[in-house]
Amino acid sequence: MEAFWFIFGAIIIILAFMFLMTAFTGAPYVPSSASELEEAFTKLYKLGKKDFLIDLGSGDGVVLKAARKHGAKALGVEINPILVLLTKIRLRKYDGVSVICRNFFTMDFPAETTVVYAFGDSRDINKIATLIKKQAAKIGHPIYLISNAFEIRGMEAQKRHRAHYLYKLGGKDED
Ligand SMILES: C[S@@+](CC[C@H](N)C(=O)[O-])C[C@H]1O[C@@H](n2cnc3c(N)ncnc32)[C@H](O)[C@@H]1O
Repeated sequence: MEAFWFIFGAIIIILAFMFLMTAFTGAPYVPSSASELEEAFTKLYKLGKKDFLIDLGSGDGVVLKAARKHGAKALGVEINPILVLLTKIRLRKYDGVSVICRNFFTMDFPAETTVVYAFGDSRDINKIATLIKKQAAKIGHPIYLISNAFEIRGMEAQKRHRAHYLYKLGGKDED
């Protein structure tokens, strides 16, 4: 019985440590609201079959699921392996959706990317905008950013709906 509690305690400590460590690399895990996502994908940006969405820091996969329901293909990028596992289980019956375990600041976007979703933090949002602009320049077309809760400093959003902001990055009017 003692061995059970020892192993149980060790697992809890490892899980807590993982969530703590990933909070240091960026925004901590807080899921977006499913109903607000539904509004964002209809009233802010009409997400559809034409779209390939990347969720930067995809958490438990709630955004990927909502995007897929609108017909978009979706890729989640998540640094916390436990959340990646949870997403894989949650979305096992969905095609056109995948999730990878890595730091999104070190990745290249697929060429078909049309829209990025981010629920980051105030510290990271401008770095995320810079990353998207660079990737848009590489793939040769602008990319929309839907940002939950955080505005890009020094840039006016094209549109706002409740907590979500819409930006078009990497177009002709961008550097
Ligand atoms: C606020 S949660 C948002 C989760 C999901 N996008 C949503 O809206 O429900 C932020 C997520 O980003 C992940 N994250 C933070 N920094 C990251 C990084 N540099 N690379 C990959 N994932 C990161 C965290 O582990 C966390 O799950």
